[in-house]
Amino acid sequence: MTLGANTAPITPADVDRVGADHTADPAAAGTLHAEAYTTQRWYDFEQSAIFARSWQWVCHREKLAEAGDYVTTTVAGVPVVVVRDGDGELRAFYNVCKHRAHEVVSGEGSTGTLRCPYHGWTYDLDGSLLAARHTKQLVDFDPSGICLDAVQAEEFAGFVFVNLDPAAEPLRLQASGLASEIATKAPDIADLTLARRLTYDIASNWKNVVENYLECYHCHVAHKDFVSLVDMSTYRITTHGIYSSQPAAAGRSANSAYDVADAAVRIHEAWWLWPNTCLMRYPGRGNAMMMHVIPAGPDRTLETYDFYLEDAEPNAAEAEAIRYIDEVLQPEDVGLVESVQRGMRTPAFTSGRLVCDPAGGGVSEHGVHHFQSLLLEAYRRHTSIAERSEVPASGRAGGDRAAGREESTTALGGRDALSAPARPGRLEPIVGFSSALTTTEVLDEDRG
Ligand code: FES
Ligand SMILES: [Fe+2]
Repeated sequence: MTLGANTAPITPADVDRVGADHTADPAAAGTLHAEAYTTQRWYDFEQSAIFARSWQWVCHREKLAEAGDYVTTTVAGVPVVVVRDGDGELRAFYNVCKHRAHEVVSGEGSTGTLRCPYHGWTYDLDGSLLAARHTKQLVDFDPSGICLDAVQAEEFAGFVFVNLDPAAEPLRLQASGLASEIATKAPDIADLTLARRLTYDIASNWKNVVENYLECYHCHVAHKDFVSLVDMSTYRITTHGIYSSQPAAAGRSANSAYDVADAAVRIHEAWWLWPNTCLMRYPGRGNAMMMHVIPAGPDRTLETYDFYLEDAEPNAAEAEAIRYIDEVLQPEDVGLVESVQRGMRTPAFTSGRLVCDPAGGGVSEHGVHHFQSLLLEAYRRHTSIAERSEVPASGRAGGDRAAGREESTTALGGRDALSAPARPGRLEPIVGFSSALTTTEVLDEDRG
């Protein structure tokens, strides 16, 4: 059922209602209620409560390797630019000109300065204003005091992430175990190069896409080829803090997905990082796949699926693996989550029952339970912040910076899994974005 006409801010009572069937014990838990997956009100709330406060993937480090390299993206509706400055430091800014708010740069590339295309105000790579045409006669105008607003940026496991929350703890501290795991199991990841991007426009809520990624209970039923590519008897799902891991050994060489006879990588890995970053490594040569789940509405999700390989040109086995994912595996999963969305919009479904195996096998949904626990934690934190500051908890996407500042203050009292105080006065360096299309471009292209 949709509550489309209801635009009231999300309250703690709303959170209690959608989480009424969730329990700390995965084996006793029901799912979050469909309301949170189907209404504009919850979509808007999540933009502020989750996407404006979490580390959001931008690109592989190769896009921001040299001084002057820049990449633009959109996070929670906010335009952001990430740049490697002249000193080699990774910086990110609101991509919003201080003159009259035009986006300063677009797309990606390499540049010596950041020049706004509206009236030509020009900024240094550290964000400071270098030049503003015809301003000498202005009264009380000091160009030296003008600078683009900074956003946290960080290079993590070979990729670049940004976070609109100035109080967010560095990702390397929030997910140090994940960094170690990736460094051990995919030590070549920072040296790989983007070989192919696939894009998908999915008629389902972003949480359904993530939840589909977080369990393999559906694999034997819905992915007959995948269950021969990996050895399902070795499949395990392990949850930690703000991430989870799904390792399995490679399956038969003569599987029905693609040929892995000469594979140097003999494992399958699927890592998930709160809230929407999905990183995989499949049997084959050195490789990594980044699936970025981009919310685009209560019942619409855009997805970019990037293949990072040893060479920009896939070899025959890699081309076959890409074909398998694009023509078989992804259509199977997209069909599943779109059907789930149609079901959630009916009066016939409010909440279901998670099927969790305490032994942690691959056919268990405890990874979904972990995700839903983190969702409720984020919902509860944001509604309590809004209540204390009397700032509406749901509002325009990503525009809730006042609430962000409030969280910075209130978070000083203690750490939790999702957010912790940054060291005073310090923005942690981060890096940029490597794919052929930025998030903005994907959105524009798909809407065109
Ligand atoms: S808005 Fe950027 S120069 Fe005018
Ligand atoms: Fe699947």
